[in-house]
Amino acid sequence: AENGYELWLRYYKIDDAAILQQYRNNISSIQFTSSTPTLLAAKEELLNGLQGLLDKKITEQNLITNGCILVGTSSDPVIHSIISSNFFSKAGKEGYVIQTVTTNQKKVIVIAGNTEVGALYGCFAFLRLLQTHQNIQNLSIVSAPRIQLRMLDHWDNVNRTIERGYAGMSIWNWHKLPDYIDKRYKDYARANASIGINAVALNNVNANAIMLTKDYLIKVAALAEVFRPYGIKVYLSAKFSAPVEIGGLKTADPLDAQVQNWWKQKADEIYTYIPNFGGFLVKANSEEQPGPQTYNRTHADGANMLADALAPHGGIVIWRAFVYSNENTDDRFKQAYNEFKPFDGKFRNNVLIQVKNGPIDFQPREPFHPLFGAMPHTPLVMEFQLTQEYLGFSTHLVYLAPLFKECLDADTYEQGKNSTVSKVIDGSSEDHKLTGMAAVANIGSDIDWTGHPFAQANWYAFGRLAWDHELSAAQIADEWIRQTFTNIQHAVDTIKNIMLASREITVDYMTPLGLHHIMGYSHHYGPAPWYNAAQRADWNPVYYHKADSLGIGFDRTATGSNALAQYAPEARKQFQDLHTCDEKYLLWFHHVEWNYKMHSGRSLWDELCYKYYAGADSVKWMQQQWNSLKGFIDDERFEQVQMLLTIQQKEAVWWRNACVLYFQTFSRMPLPKGFEQPA
Ligand code: GCU
Repeated sequence: AENGYELWLRYYKIDDAAILQQYRNNISSIQFTSSTPTLLAAKEELLNGLQGLLDKKITEQNLITNGCILVGTSSDPVIHSIISSNFFSKAGKEGYVIQTVTTNQKKVIVIAGNTEVGALYGCFAFLRLLQTHQNIQNLSIVSAPRIQLRMLDHWDNVNRTIERGYAGMSIWNWHKLPDYIDKRYKDYARANASIGINAVALNNVNANAIMLTKDYLIKVAALAEVFRPYGIKVYLSAKFSAPVEIGGLKTADPLDAQVQNWWKQKADEIYTYIPNFGGFLVKANSEEQPGPQTYNRTHADGANMLADALAPHGGIVIWRAFVYSNENTDDRFKQAYNEFKPFDGKFRNNVLIQVKNGPIDFQPREPFHPLFGAMPHTPLVMEFQLTQEYLGFSTHLVYLAPLFKECLDADTYEQGKNSTVSKVIDGSSEDHKLTGMAAVANIGSDIDWTGHPFAQANWYAFGRLAWDHELSAAQIADEWIRQTFTNIQHAVDTIKNIMLASREITVDYMTPLGLHHIMGYSHHYGPAPWYNAAQRADWNPVYYHKADSLGIGFDRTATGSNALAQYAPEARKQFQDLHTCDEKYLLWFHHVEWNYKMHSGRSLWDELCYKYYAGADSVKWMQQQWNSLKGFIDDERFEQVQMLLTIQQKEAVWWRNACVLYFQTFSRMPLPKGFEQPA
């Protein structure tokens, strides 16, 4: 049964005798203050988890006895009387309190929230303590999410294919819904709730209007019902031309009264089926999608029309800023900023603008998007990508938390030093009421959900960071490994080292020194820096690396596209001087001569070769590290990862050779001494 289906929610008997004894001594029974759907879900999870982990029958009691776990909300009189209200004010709407208290000479553990969902999150957090072998003898924990909307965006199509999906078909079985409820829907909700994810957009942003028809809304409602006890709201990607496609209107012009009315009625209808519907996610006027500009209207016109339709029901619009057009010959980097910044403050207050972490498209490394910090009057949602479109699909092991953290910790200098992207996103620097962080899901119907055992860690890390972006990539890896594989310290450390190094290694063998978008055309797998035949110039790798006989890289300084002008002056400073620019970002912003002397003392050409070779060699290191784990984890997943690493190693060499040979046709320089010229 080591097929990965259980994700990190594995409740097998604790294999450390001392820890097991401690838990058995401290936990004997549970008591829930009421049995609403959310608390029932919490009870089921807690009972299952405890009985599995402790290998002991846990009873339900009405009396408070020693070792009782009392679960409920702050409005329960017993809980209210034994837990200081101070804790509850810190927990906020969705947070939780876990406290060891002695009441009437009985030592009990209270798990509670101001809301039932808070209590549910607390139960998952408590189980995580046990799964990671923490001491539970004297607990005093309060935790609250820093971000309100913690969302997964599925790019799932109606026919169950998934755009950029590498883990099988969509888990949404539209054909059998609404009457057949796959067990997976509940397990999906459990997994999300366990890490605090509270929103999901079910369908691809390249949307099909059929999702908004009655037939499909009923199916969506069935899913929403499964998710509701777990605190998860459903959103739909809305196709802007739906009034024409399914409404029989002649136009989808957002200023047309009939169109406005159609969306109002559509919103009313949706809420009759799904009373807690979250709202719409919209990709408009990007990559051939229709939008307000189709009718010479603005993003604000389009977003506000939908916002007005949803507002009476408390729904929101998440409008994407991933726009760039073929006709616009200006640097693609600059287009989202140029299109959106002028509308700062022009959106309704139930509109959020969703911005990808970087200015191009989910590359192994990007500088932070210049819109962060540039729209202080508009709440911006972070959009990360879990599915590894440009990072080796579900074949390469790449732990993404370091990538997420790099962006969240980047300084926008919007209001002086330490105006990090995370403070823009969590609303603290611009004082926003609505806040959000989203990620494009990497989930499919593969047995292990994500197609690579380690891709589960990216789903996990995203949820944890959306809850608390101050957690470190290492902390998150540590808890994920303990829950997913083992608590044996040596094995935890070895796996953690692999994970923490994996992203930088991938950057090295794919796109070192600030190279970007040089993957194979359209599918984005493997190297194709030479490719120059796309339908659109901005889809060609040569557009991005600009290698020539003099050098390589995209000049985005004032002598080039001047994209750097979109950053605040202090932020710009980090990149604009060739000599002081962090070399990780060098070719993002500068066209650099092949002979340019790098900090290492090597020429740019030599440095590039060093990086490619180091990247490919490091995958061998990952393999050696992994091989040392034989016997420490189950054979099934050990062998799976071993096979995947073999592919990754071959492909790292493929990347290295392809890029070095291709760029060498420009540099016309030999490989550094001691490096073997690829054949
Ligand atoms: C990328 C991806 C597309 C996707 C788009 C988006 O360009 O390749 O498949 O539709 O992002 O985010 O809308």
